[in-house]
Amino acid sequence: MRLRGKRAVITGGSDGIGLAIAEAFLREGAEILIVGRDAGKLEAAREKLTASGPIGSVEPIGSVETVSADLAARPGVAAVVEHVKAAARPLDVLVNNAGVAYLVPFETVSEAQFQHSFALNVSAAFFLTQGLLRYFGAGASVINISSYFANKMIPKRPSSLYSLSKGALNSLTKSLAFELGPRGVRVNAIAPGTVDTAMRRKTVENLPVEAKAELKAYVERSYPLGRIGRPADIAGMAIYLASDEAAWTSGAIFAIDGGYTAG
Ligand SMILES: NC(=O)c1ccc[n+]([C@@H]2O[C@H](COP(=O)([O-])OP(=O)(O)OC[C@H]3O[C@@H](n4cnc5c(N)ncnc54)[C@H](OP(=O)(O)O)[C@@H]3O)[C@@H](O)[C@H]2O)c1
Repeated sequence: MRLRGKRAVITGGSDGIGLAIAEAFLREGAEILIVGRDAGKLEAAREKLTASGPIGSVEPIGSVETVSADLAARPGVAAVVEHVKAAARPLDVLVNNAGVAYLVPFETVSEAQFQHSFALNVSAAFFLTQGLLRYFGAGASVINISSYFANKMIPKRPSSLYSLSKGALNSLTKSLAFELGPRGVRVNAIAPGTVDTAMRRKTVENLPVEAKAELKAYVERSYPLGRIGRPADIAGMAIYLASDEAAWTSGAIFAIDGGYTAG
């Protein structure tokens, strides 16, 4: 178990990539706290996570706590910090995963969409990391879930707002690695390629039939490994970054994308 005894907070841990990371961390022996807005979804995730202990293991699995909070608003961030503080035990891993993707044409981006994107994709990661800093244990690891969209665009998938927010998250990753390194805190990012989650399905379902077919063809010819990702495909890198194996890994942005950005 590579994360035995470590405590981890995973934002957006009730679904998609965050849930897959939660599952993997638990399997590796971590105690996890998952955060999302919908309390019902969190409870369903907790039940799913605790129902599936490590296969063949006779040891108890790590614990799962939940906090329902809207991280796009500052009180939500404060609620998570308070929860961690109340536990009075050091925190080892923070995964800033909750995010939102408005893939809308530049000229139609609204002020509300802009504010929401930055509130969740950037400010939440910034202020949650800041708020939790004093509770980090020795060798703590911050893992930001970015996106290939920070640097690589897709034809007919307007991404100015989303790309901007993930680019900002990448900058935060590198600048914090520099600033927090002397305190022993490592900061890295994972930039997934397209992953089959509710977020992805939501951005595709409203496309006209022809555009859907075009996107499917584009994906098939653009991913060297011939498919988009599954949430579990992202978890392996998260385990590595959370573990002591990554003790000298900081300030890096890891593309986990089936080879998509190699071209
Ligand atoms: N899927 C992809 O193709 C893809 C590709 C590259 C990068 N990413 C990035 O990966 C991360 C996870 O994406 P995903 O596809 O796994 O998304 P997802 O399946 O839609 O899950 C999002 C998770 O975040 C939570 N969440 C959403 N808004 C929140 C808020 N305001 N406060 C607290 N929690 C919130 C959701 O729970 P509630 O709804 O209950 O709040 C859910 O647990 C995002 O940062 C995304 O940008 C995704």
